[in-house]
Amino acid sequence: MAEKEKFNLTDINHAIVFGAGHGIGLAIVAELLQENPKVKVFATYNNKAKADDLLSLAVDFPVRLEVKHLDPICEKSLGNFSKELKEDSTNIDLIISSIGFLGHEDIKPEKSLNDINKDTLLKYFAVNSISSVLIGKYFHRLFPKKTLSCFASVSAKVGSIEDNRMGGWYGYRSSKSAQNMLMKNMALEFSRNKLDIITLSIHPGTTITELSKPYISNTKYKLHSPSDTAKNILNVISNQTIEDTGSFLSWDGSQIPW
Ligand SMILES: NC(=O)c1ccc[n+]([C@@H]2O[C@H](COP(=O)([O-])OP(=O)(O)OC[C@H]3O[C@@H](n4cnc5c(N)ncnc54)[C@H](OP(=O)(O)O)[C@@H]3O)[C@@H](O)[C@H]2O)c1
Repeated sequence: MAEKEKFNLTDINHAIVFGAGHGIGLAIVAELLQENPKVKVFATYNNKAKADDLLSLAVDFPVRLEVKHLDPICEKSLGNFSKELKEDSTNIDLIISSIGFLGHEDIKPEKSLNDINKDTLLKYFAVNSISSVLIGKYFHRLFPKKTLSCFASVSAKVGSIEDNRMGGWYGYRSSKSAQNMLMKNMALEFSRNKLDIITLSIHPGTTITELSKPYISNTKYKLHSPSDTAKNILNVISNQTIEDTGSFLSWDGSQIPW
């Protein structure tokens, strides 16, 4: 049987990175621009106060990087952006969502049932799970019909139900499991509709970012810089074929149990 075509990052013309204001998303944008001299990247941020580095990068790449303010859990915001691209007849070969929320000064991941708060749970699900399926809803029509494309959502190994031996972090864990289920569902729908969109959930590995900083001082896991993580994620993506759609993969390309 003929070998299936791998997703080739050097072939792509257009990419969107959601959640690119800082952290892993920003590093993915920088890596894409550096590695593929013809790609045009659309990069979205939510909080302008934290997007200085992305906005500076756009000054360095005035033609190949277009920066967009967007709220990824607002359907109107997503719908307007997708409409703009559709009107320009822009096909998107690669979409990566690097959106995720673990905590901030007022919200800490739950250590026990006593810490459960309904509004906090809803926030975890809105940001971590629902953003990905809304991106799928508004942007899948922009993927090309005849060539291989990729939709990857940066997830987390703690969303693996089988691998959960520690408990805690109720909202973050369960919203990452839901994110994976939504990505898998989209993969199945795209396959049924004969669309060659490789749809993936990817665990980035423990990476030094604003999200992880409060929790990594005693970690037993290998620590990655955002730039190394960006390279790892793009490397994983470029090793996949359409037969791998619907997978939950780690930064080194290995499968993570659901
Ligand atoms: N760092 C790690 O060790 C690690 C490990 C496993 C998984 N991950 C996953 O990797 C992805 C990227 O995280 P990161 O480490 O790069 O963290 P980060 O620097 O904090 O980036 C998180 C991104 O999510 C966006 N975001 C957070 N809350 C939001 C909200 N309420 N509305 C809209 N956007 C929101 C942020 O945008 P604004 O700041 O513009 O709002 C930012 O773009 C996440 O999915 C995370 O769960 C990270």
